[in-house]
Amino acid sequence: MCRFFVLLFFASTVFAFSTYPDDEVSKKYEEAIISIGDKVAMELVGTLKKELKRALSKGGPVGAVLVCSERAQELTEQVSRSTGNGIDVKRTTFRYRNRKNAPDRYEALALGYFEDLIKRGKDLPPYLIQKVNLEGQVYYRYYKPIRVESFCLLCHGNPESMQRELLEKLRELYPEDRATGYSEGDFRGLVRVSIPESVLLSK
Ligand code: HEC
Repeated sequence: MCRFFVLLFFASTVFAFSTYPDDEVSKKYEEAIISIGDKVAMELVGTLKKELKRALSKGGPVGAVLVCSERAQELTEQVSRSTGNGIDVKRTTFRYRNRKNAPDRYEALALGYFEDLIKRGKDLPPYLIQKVNLEGQVYYRYYKPIRVESFCLLCHGNPESMQRELLEKLRELYPEDRATGYSEGDFRGLVRVSIPESVLLSK
């Protein structure tokens, strides 16, 4: 596996810092982190897409917005719960529609890493692994980039070309919406899978 993509972020507070050398992550855990991270990230993306497509065909775009706003958080929690072992999944981005998807400081570092590559015209890695220590517990975070596809533009594209009724509904539900103005292929954010070290120790 390409070691370049394993990044450790060192933070300066007692609250959260990384203590192990870089090497230890990749050798001991990298394969397991990727395998768990990929599986859980795909499950979340698959679950949300399936629900979205079902909602679109049943209730049209406006109905689908309602379903998304009511179900996205719940389905995300459901995927975490069904995975078990303290593994937790989330979608995060700087340009969020729902504030609940706003990044914490480590997610912000990961998003910053990807956005910096984009700014410099570099290709994005397929994933990023980050090690964090939260209140004495070590977690590995697996991040996978999310790209905008053409059908996403219905609700995340240029507001001027969006259906009026849909835009009104979005503005009503999310007055501080930051998640419009995307084009197909854009980097939209990250799926973040957090894996407690204890899960990896038992492997
Ligand atoms: C029918 C409208 C609709 C479509 C189509 C749609 N989304 Fe969304 N999207 C939403 C809504 C509504 C939310 C807010 C969900 C919530 O409240 O958690 C959202 C939230 C998100 C989030 C979470 C971060 C945030 O902004 O809060 C991501 C990531 C995302 N969408 C990506 C996509 C991608 C990628 C596609 C295409 C594969 C897509 N969306 C298609 C309506 C849509």
